[in-house]
Amino acid sequence: MATDRIDTLLDEQRSFAPPAAFARGAHVRDRAPYERAAHDREGYWADWARQLQWVRPWDRVLEWKPPHAKWFVGGKLNASVNCLDRHVAAGRGDKTAIVWEGEPGEVRRITYSELHADVSRFANVLKGLGVARGDRVAVYMPMVPEVVVAMLACARIGAPHTVVFGGFSAESLRDRINDAQAKVLVTADGGYRRGTVVTLKQHADDAVRDCPSIRHVVVLRRTGQPVPMQPGRDVWWHERTSAAAPQCEPEVMDAEDPLFILYTSGTTGKPKGILHTTGGYLTHVFATTKWVFDLTENDVFWCTADVGWVTGHSYIVYGPLALGVTQVMYEGAPDHPAKDRFWGICARHGVTVFYTAPTAIRAFMKWGVEHPARHDLSQLRLLGTVGEPINPEAWMWYHQHIGKERCPIVDTWWQTETGGIMITPLPGVVTTKPGSATVPFPGIEAKLLDGEGGEVATGGGYLAITSPWPGMLRTIWGDDERYRQQYWTKWPGVYFPGDGAKRDDNGYFWILGRVDDVLNVAGHRIGTMEVESALVDHPAVAEAAVVGKAHDLKGQAIAAFVTLKEGHTTTDALREELKGHVAKKIGALARPDDVLFAADLPKTRSGKIMRRLLKDIAEGRALGDTTTLADPGVVSRLKDQYEERES
Ligand code: WTA
Repeated sequence: MATDRIDTLLDEQRSFAPPAAFARGAHVRDRAPYERAAHDREGYWADWARQLQWVRPWDRVLEWKPPHAKWFVGGKLNASVNCLDRHVAAGRGDKTAIVWEGEPGEVRRITYSELHADVSRFANVLKGLGVARGDRVAVYMPMVPEVVVAMLACARIGAPHTVVFGGFSAESLRDRINDAQAKVLVTADGGYRRGTVVTLKQHADDAVRDCPSIRHVVVLRRTGQPVPMQPGRDVWWHERTSAAAPQCEPEVMDAEDPLFILYTSGTTGKPKGILHTTGGYLTHVFATTKWVFDLTENDVFWCTADVGWVTGHSYIVYGPLALGVTQVMYEGAPDHPAKDRFWGICARHGVTVFYTAPTAIRAFMKWGVEHPARHDLSQLRLLGTVGEPINPEAWMWYHQHIGKERCPIVDTWWQTETGGIMITPLPGVVTTKPGSATVPFPGIEAKLLDGEGGEVATGGGYLAITSPWPGMLRTIWGDDERYRQQYWTKWPGVYFPGDGAKRDDNGYFWILGRVDDVLNVAGHRIGTMEVESALVDHPAVAEAAVVGKAHDLKGQAIAAFVTLKEGHTTTDALREELKGHVAKKIGALARPDDVLFAADLPKTRSGKIMRRLLKDIAEGRALGDTTTLADPGVVSRLKDQYEERES
């Protein structure tokens, strides 16, 4: 039994009740929705679905034949109509949908009416290129408003999009296009990143050479450098859209028709094409955008993710636009031209609700408090995080230096597969604790289980989602068997997300990291998050990653990779001090055997630490697959350093 459980070490006692002023004005002010959802889950989700615009209502809320769910069976709707037409029809066409800032500094404001016309034009362009309902369209673009236009145009004509992050290589793009069998690729000449041009069209050309399904490539002019255009295949965005009509009749889609495929590589294996459908997904992201971010008419929302990730799909495109709010979109890097760029954007555009990733917060911590201090952040009223466990010290920094101890923080746990937020505080009612995603969103049922499926009331275990939810993935594109194997075989009828977690005495969930990364020291299974948090708790440390390294006696010994905050130097004394700090903070058991200072940690392109590669280094193995790394150089530099120290 002990081998099934995960030990818990970190004891975080700080807690923050919703500030009274915030709670008074929040959408959710009491626990009634939790009770309503627990009592009648389907009726509760149907209430949310009714807030969308349907062409035909559904006959049944849920049909559940594990592991396949259908939500809002028989219902008909169009996602782009919900994001655009209904706001325009309600007289809100002049409201700003997107305030966009390019990396070089230009600003564009786009209203819902303008976005509606742009989407309709581009939908007509796609139709003119032979894209029909059900055809897949690949999108490989920078963070410009046109990427939103392209996605919604696909939704309008019922062609599932598959967006590939603009930082991916030609090979990654090629594999995803081929798996999805996309007919058209939408790209740009280039995009700006840290002052240089990312040559998207060149990557697209390299990819499409080996993509027989692609008939046309639409090219947006963004950076203006000359790019070759292949006659008959390539067309310019501006030429086609200027000739297209600004009206396009939306396709009437079934609630269960595919809306998009999004590939997730995770940290290992062939990318999985996660399939999301229309009615349930839209309902889930609409509900969570409204209640988790507590958005109302006057808010300015900024989710800093790239649209190439699910966070961008759900909380830049479908959630905020279905809700009809104003949001900020930014093209480039957070440290260009200087390390205060994000805070300048918040101040310039009056951002009220800000949503980012722990990896970004740890970078801000490393850069120093003087950068946010230079700007007026008084408009901010709510902060959010997603993507990784947030170390309590990073949470506290965010709370103090960005939220000025005034803004609640919503730590939102979810995945590409879940479509929308699953575990999160509702900011007006749930007391938060630094490092905990707290409780499931109303209508979501999560538990902690052991390997046999027994419930773990308090302590560590496997996170499990025990009933279907509207935004859940429907399958893996083209590989339903892998879908079953990957998510549904650990316990019958229960979804296994692959994360370890603990529950505290209040029933709060604390995500401990991927179970594949769990350490096993002398028979104790320890989540990476707790040891890393103990390291980040030390004033010199900006970021930490720990891995288990094979050890004759203990099974595994802990190797820690640490980056320091600006102004601190690496010394042997500090190394010993850090080992001692972990032992003091969470116990001698978790004392790292080895601490290695690094300038950077290897991360996936979405900012997650790749512990698998660090484990290869710590165990002296040849490096595993580094193709999903943001900066492959980081690993080889680390490896050299580590080998020097070992020898
Ligand atoms: C991790 C991102 C702790 C987790 C939306 C999950 C988190 C994976 C959190 C999904 C959080 C995401 N606390 N861990 N708040 N949010 N994760 O598919 O391991 O890019 O399984 O989706 O990120 O990553 P994905």
